[in-house]
Amino acid sequence: MELKQRGVMGKLKSLIKPHYVTKQAVSNISFSVEEGEIIGYLGPNGAGKSTMIKMLCGILHPTSGHIRVNGCIPYIERRKYAMSIGVVFGQRSQLWWDLPAIDSLELYRDIYKVSSTSYKQSLDEFNELLGLHEFASTPVRQLSLGQRMRMELAAAMLHHPEILFLDEPTIGLDIMVKEKIRDFILQWNRLRKTTVILTTHDVIDIERLCNRILIINNGEMAFDGSAYELEQLYTKEKQIIVTFKNSAELLPALLHTTVQRREGNQVWFGVQRSEFVQDVIRTIVNSYEVTDIQIRGTDLESIIKNAYQSGKKDAVHEVVYSNFS
Ligand SMILES: Nc1ncnc2c1ncn2[C@@H]1O[C@H](COP(=O)(O)OP(=O)(O)OP(=O)(O)O)[C@@H](O)[C@H]1O
Ligand SMILES: [Mg+2]
Repeated sequence: MELKQRGVMGKLKSLIKPHYVTKQAVSNISFSVEEGEIIGYLGPNGAGKSTMIKMLCGILHPTSGHIRVNGCIPYIERRKYAMSIGVVFGQRSQLWWDLPAIDSLELYRDIYKVSSTSYKQSLDEFNELLGLHEFASTPVRQLSLGQRMRMELAAAMLHHPEILFLDEPTIGLDIMVKEKIRDFILQWNRLRKTTVILTTHDVIDIERLCNRILIINNGEMAFDGSAYELEQLYTKEKQIIVTFKNSAELLPALLHTTVQRREGNQVWFGVQRSEFVQDVIRTIVNSYEVTDIQIRGTDLESIIKNAYQSGKKDAVHEVVYSNFS
C-alpha cells in the first residue's frame, strides 16, 4: 500500500520516491464450503471481505496459505476456473458501458461458448425472474443502479456456474429490486444447487438467503456457524413485555431481570439468558393478574453488532488456509 506524505513537499517526495508499507488484510482464515450452501460472509467495513472474495475469485494472489475451489487453485488456473464461477461486485461493473445491455450478454455468450439453446432458455428465465426485457436495449451507462445490477447478475449466471460470488449485490437498491435479486439467488440455488458466497451489510439479505454465516473481523475469522448459533452466542437479552390487569407501578424486582420500561399497565423486562424466560413468566403469572405477554429475541442487527464488537473467535470448519498481506 502506498503511503502518501502530507504537505506540498511531502506530496512531491511521494511522487518522486513513493513510500510503501505492508498491510495485512486477512490472516489465519480457514473454512470449507459444501455444494449448495449459501454463505453470508460478514464483517465491519475494512474487515477484509472483499479481499477474501477477490482471492476466492482468483483476482488476488495470497502471499501464503492455499485456496482450492471446485478442484482449481483460483489464482493459478484462472481460465479453467472462470468457467465454474460467476462474480458480481456491487460497486464495480462487468458490462460494456457504451453498448446496449443485451449486447453484453451476447458477448459473454461468445466468451463462455454458451450454446444458442441454453442462451435462449437462460434469457427466458432472466426475463421472468429479473425483468431484463424492460431495459435490454438501453445502453449500460443509462441504466439505473437496480437495472444494472439485474443485468450484472444475468451476465454472471449466463454460463450456469456452480459457484456464485457476490460482493454487496444489493447495495443501494430499492426494496423491490432487492427482493427480485434475492428470489433469483434462491431459485438458482434450489434448482441447480448453485453454491453462493455473498458479502452484505443488509440483515434482510442474511435472514432471507444465508444458511451459514462467517464473520471476519480485523482480517481474522470471528464466527462460523448458523444464524441460530450466532443468536445463541451473541444475544445479550431476551425481552418480555407483560400487560398487567392493574397498574404495574409498584411491581417489585424479579430475579434475573431488569425493568427496561414501564408505561401504564405494561412493563418491559430484559431477561439475561433464554433459559430464565420460563421461570420469569411463571413467577409473574403466579403472582399477578396478567392480560398479555410477548417475548422478543434480540433482532439480528443487534446480534451481529454484538458479534462485531466482541471479536470472539469461534471458527469451526478448517480446510482452506489463507494469509494475504
Ligand atoms: N488495494 C489495496 N491496497 C492496500 N490496502 C487495501 C487495498 N484494498 C483493501 N485494502 C485494505 O485491506 C483491508 C480490508 O479491505 P476490504 O476491502 O477487504 O474490506 P471489506 O471487508 O470489503 O470492507 P467493506 O465492508 O467496507 O467493503 C482494509 O484495511 C483496506 O484498507
Ligand atoms: Mg468490501
